[in-house]
Amino acid sequence: MSKTLFEALREDHDIQRELLDKLLKTSSDSPDRDRLYRRLRAELQHHAGAEERALYIPMMAHDLTQEKARHSVAEHHEIDELLETLDGTDYASPGWLTHARNLEDKVLHHLEEEEHEVFQLAGRGLQDDQKTSLAGEYKKEMARRREQD
Ligand SMILES: [Fe+2]
Ligand SMILES: [Fe+2]
Repeated sequence: MSKTLFEALREDHDIQRELLDKLLKTSSDSPDRDRLYRRLRAELQHHAGAEERALYIPMMAHDLTQEKARHSVAEHHEIDELLETLDGTDYASPGWLTHARNLEDKVLHHLEEEEHEVFQLAGRGLQDDQKTSLAGEYKKEMARRREQD
């Protein structure tokens, strides 16, 4: 059986959790910090873009799910702003870890909310065949974005 949209999204959430965990354990100005930050940043941005296309745009079309979709997209913007702050902070500066922890808190909260509230709500609004076809759309969009790195 092919994967549903929610399974595909959760798999990429786990990638983000793992990258965050590893990033927070790096020491200042190490090659690992730079490598992991770049990967995490790309994963977060690609996922948000592809998820908006495959999940939040369809959710915005229905009254039942519109408000939740708007809330999640607003959080994607907050995550983007935290990335911009980190972009402008030296890896070796004392503030870096504080900003990185803020990013971790925000992202973990966001993933938790999606997995425990958003997906259930969206699941009620989407047909089974739609969940499978949107999974295909999400995966295709992610592959396209990752290739551009
Ligand atoms: Fe999201
Ligand atoms: Fe997500």
